Formats: sequence, C-alpha cells, structure tokens
Amino acid sequence: MAEPDLEAFDKLVSLLDYPVFVVTAAAGGAPAGCLVGFASQASIHPPRFLVGLSEQNHTFRVAAGATHLAVHLFDREHIDVVELFGSRSGDTVNKFDRCTWHLGPARTPILDDAAAWFVGRILDRFPLGDHVGYLLEPVDGSMPHQLERWVSFRDVRDLPPGHEA
Ligand SMILES: Cc1cc2nc3c(=O)[nH]c(=O)nc-3n(C[C@H](O)[C@H](O)[C@H](O)COP(=O)(O)O)c2cc1C
Repeated sequence: MAEPDLEAFDKLVSLLDYPVFVVTAAAGGAPAGCLVGFASQASIHPPRFLVGLSEQNHTFRVAAGATHLAVHLFDREHIDVVELFGSRSGDTVNKFDRCTWHLGPARTPILDDAAAWFVGRILDRFPLGDHVGYLLEPVDGSMPHQLERWVSFRDVRDLPPGHEA
C-alpha cells in the first residue's frame, strides 16, 4: 500500500490553537506532572474528559499507578509554571520543589498558581499511538478566578519538551 500523504494533515494541524493544561498525578510516592496539549472534553452526559500522556514521560509512569489525575488551566500570568512542567522532566528535576502545591481530592497534587483545575477519576486507559488516552470522570474542581487569557498551544509551541514524544 502507498505511504499516506500527510502534507494536508500536517498543514491543518499546524494551524490549530487550543488550551494546554498541566496534568498531575501521584501514586503512593512523589508527585508527577507535565504539560499536556492532547486533551479534550469528550462527553457531556455523562461528563468525560480525555487526556493523552506520552509513554516517554515520567508523568506517564506515575499515572500508570494512579486512580485520579488533576487537570490545571493557567492564566498567561503564570506561564512560567506551565513552561516548567513542559520543559523539564521529573526524571531529572523535582518540579514540585519549584512551585507551590498541595494534596487535593483523592490525594492528587494541586498546583496553587493554576487559575482553574479539576480532578478526574481514571475510568479507562487505551493506546492512541505514541500516547496513552486517559478517560476521566470529573469528581471535584475549582474555578476561582476570572480567566480570559488562558495559556494556549500557540504560547508554548516553541518550548523544547523535557522528553521527546
Ligand atoms: C507544546 C507542548 C505540548 C505537549 N503536549 C503533551 C501531551 O499532550 N502529552 C504529554 O504526555 N506530553 C506533552 N508534552 C511534553 C511534556 O510536557 C514534556 O516532555 C515534559 O517535560 C514531561 O515531563 P515528565 O517527564 O516529568 O512527565 C508537551 C510539551 C509541549 C512543549
């Protein structure tokens, strides 16, 4: 079979912009977290959210043993925290020493500088390719601030990731 022609697809996705999140997890021991662009609301009734975690990431290895994930949205005012979680790996750096956080619902790490967050119970995990899809059922959250300038893919697209995907 002929190789697929990806030119149109590559051009289309290069035009896209969307919110990016910091996703955190804990499984018994130290917390983990990374910047995630592959994330989307996936159902209304019941409410569901899908997060894609790269198999290369430290966060993926911790999330494999977790029951819940926390999904954080940031105002551009705190883009430094988003950059920290996207450009450094928990394999070499303790990112949680460099930001303020606390244990929230289901003992999931909550980043204090986030403008909004929710905690989701992991309902399912399934392969997406080089990422694994985590299907989440939201169980708790906080939306305390007005949020008009959330960090989007366009703000961080040139950030060198802590791990290659
Ligand atoms: C713009 C951008 C989008 C990213 N999207 C994802 C993603 O959807 N899923 C993922 O697992 N990693 C994604 N990453 C990569 C991780 O955030 C990055 O490699 C991080 O340093 C991994 O940290 P960890 O090893 O501590 O988990 C993205 C990075 C950038 C810069």
